[in-house]
Amino acid sequence: MPDKKLLIIANTPSPNTGLLADAVLHGARHPDIESVTATRLTPFDATVDHVMDADGIVLGTTENFGYMSGALKDFFERVYYPVLEIKQGTPYALYVRAGLDGTGTITAVERIITGLRWKAICEPVLLHGSFSDAFIPQCEELGTLMAASLDTGIV
Ligand SMILES: Cc1cc2nc3c(=O)[nH]c(=O)nc-3n(C[C@H](O)[C@H](O)[C@H](O)COP(=O)(O)O)c2cc1C
Repeated sequence: MPDKKLLIIANTPSPNTGLLADAVLHGARHPDIESVTATRLTPFDATVDHVMDADGIVLGTTENFGYMSGALKDFFERVYYPVLEIKQGTPYALYVRAGLDGTGTITAVERIITGLRWKAICEPVLLHGSFSDAFIPQCEELGTLMAASLDTGIV
């Protein structure tokens, strides 16, 4: 059977946010996961075809001005209607990196996802405050959870 495809769409405007995206990808490539191919893209590089081709999606964004990054919003604006009918039920997970809050971003992303009818595989992961090394294993676990869910076919 062909591998399932996990698409990680991560906004990485800073070295720290690059580390978070690296960690999600690393977690998704856990050696126990046999049949999932994980790919990481920035929201600006992610296209309708990438979403159409994905069996599961991890979204990662910073919170900027109380909202998701402009990059992730641009992604949603480009893909929303082209994927709307075909990709309903797509399993997804979300992590948000915020200096202070993050709740505005989670609410905004979830509102769009409600419209898309994608299926959350876990609660959003909110990484807020000063950057902490503890964020890295949280992101690795998110990647592993998402990939393992696809691998075992439970989503
Ligand atoms: C223009 C701009 C606006 C921001 N607005 C918010 C905000 O509204 N809420 C918040 O929690 N953090 C905000 N931040 C902080 C970013 O979320 C934070 O810089 C980003 O997550 C990168 O984190 P890092 O410093 O660990 O690399 C903002 C940052 C920038 C550059």
